[in-house]
Amino acid sequence: MEEKKNLWGGRFTTPTDETFTEFNRSFGFDCRLFAADIVASIAHANGLGRAGVLTQDEAAAIVSGLEGLAEKAGLEPDFFDDDAAEDVHSFIEAHLVEAIGDLGKKLHTGRSRNDQVATAFRLWLRAETDSVIEELRVLERALIAAAERHPDAVLPGYTHLQRAQPVMWAYWCLAYVEMFNRDRERFFQARGRLNTMPLGSAALAGTAFPIDREAVAKELGFEGVSRNSLDAVSDRDFAVEFAAASSLVMVHLSRLAEDLILYCSTEFGFVTLSDAVSTGSSLMPQKKNPDALELLRGKSGRVFGHHAGLLAMLKGLPLAYNKDMQEDKEAIFDTVDTLRLCLQVTEIVLANVTLNEDRCRCAATTGYLNATELADYLVKKGIPFRTAHDAVGRLVLFGIEQGRELNELTLDEMQAVAAEIDEAVFEALSLERTLASKAAVGGTSPERVRAELDAAKERLKL
Ligand code: ARG
Repeated sequence: MEEKKNLWGGRFTTPTDETFTEFNRSFGFDCRLFAADIVASIAHANGLGRAGVLTQDEAAAIVSGLEGLAEKAGLEPDFFDDDAAEDVHSFIEAHLVEAIGDLGKKLHTGRSRNDQVATAFRLWLRAETDSVIEELRVLERALIAAAERHPDAVLPGYTHLQRAQPVMWAYWCLAYVEMFNRDRERFFQARGRLNTMPLGSAALAGTAFPIDREAVAKELGFEGVSRNSLDAVSDRDFAVEFAAASSLVMVHLSRLAEDLILYCSTEFGFVTLSDAVSTGSSLMPQKKNPDALELLRGKSGRVFGHHAGLLAMLKGLPLAYNKDMQEDKEAIFDTVDTLRLCLQVTEIVLANVTLNEDRCRCAATTGYLNATELADYLVKKGIPFRTAHDAVGRLVLFGIEQGRELNELTLDEMQAVAAEIDEAVFEALSLERTLASKAAVGGTSPERVRAELDAAKERLKL
């Protein structure tokens, strides 16, 4: 029987247009699914063997043929070069037939590339998800290490990028630990939904062979099997969820990057980035630029783009599989590559950040960051908060005119505005007291921050 080189030539009489052939091909990028597709194909062959669709000998020969291909791919770096295959699935089938002969043509019994690609893609992304979860953990550890390098340091907290209230440096670090911890949880939950096996859906209506799908799923480490094949072959929710979770990580990384870009500017001067993660200017000899951080901020855009692109690609697609869906691969591959690189670079940057503690402390104690503390002090003397707020506002205005901080005013000057103020106010307005008063859960008191650091380490099993 004369057969075409591709997987579907029987009903075609004239050759495919060359430009269209290239347009249609995905091998250039989906070869990344090679190992996953081999593993899934082995499980499928075993399933066919157990079902009696293949003899035990046939199944065993196909499995060893597939294992041989995997070995070859590991040994020969140019194995994937210049191959005319349409996609990774036809590539594997063609090489299998080349290796074991016509028996290789039995492998595709009871499956379609539609359930095959969905299965391989899920297996591949499951492993990447595990790596991302681990890299998030490493990043959280780096934040904790940065916090512990400066355990007593403070810096101004901001709202509207205006100095607001002093906070511990470790508290700032822990804010990002919270974000990455949520991210980790999100990937973990998405992994749970991803871990369902579409194999056995065949093209769209289910397989016509008595394959024990649960057993195949078990072999591949899937939690369960899909319940509806129309859905299973056209479902890319797992890819969208991965891109969405990645987008949120990138939001967090970009905010971390932006904070540090500001903090290492001369205007702020809170942190110094070491040379290892900075670049110079080709023209201005004095420059030291935070390019690593700017790239972390900048690369978020392409990840958001992939998320939006996936949604747009899937929107309105009729059931079930459509070739549009081949576009999912490059979006996810670039999302994974960008995200993982950014996580690794952020960890390196954090190890190269030094806090300028004196400068931070000075900034945290100038600019009326203890004004709320004074209002709270008056509240504790029975004055309604709104009244206290107004009185302190007037004292701040007076201080600005005088060029003095609140704690630099005299007791007389303060009492002229609020008679309830007494000598104890100076102690109350100190940085130490300002911080220590935020002792409720979620606050920045040194004691609370130490407890949260311990809790974070416990969560990370440090
Ligand atoms: N390369 C294809 C993809 O990524 C594989 C599935 C092709 N299925 C088909 N019926 N043409 O989506």
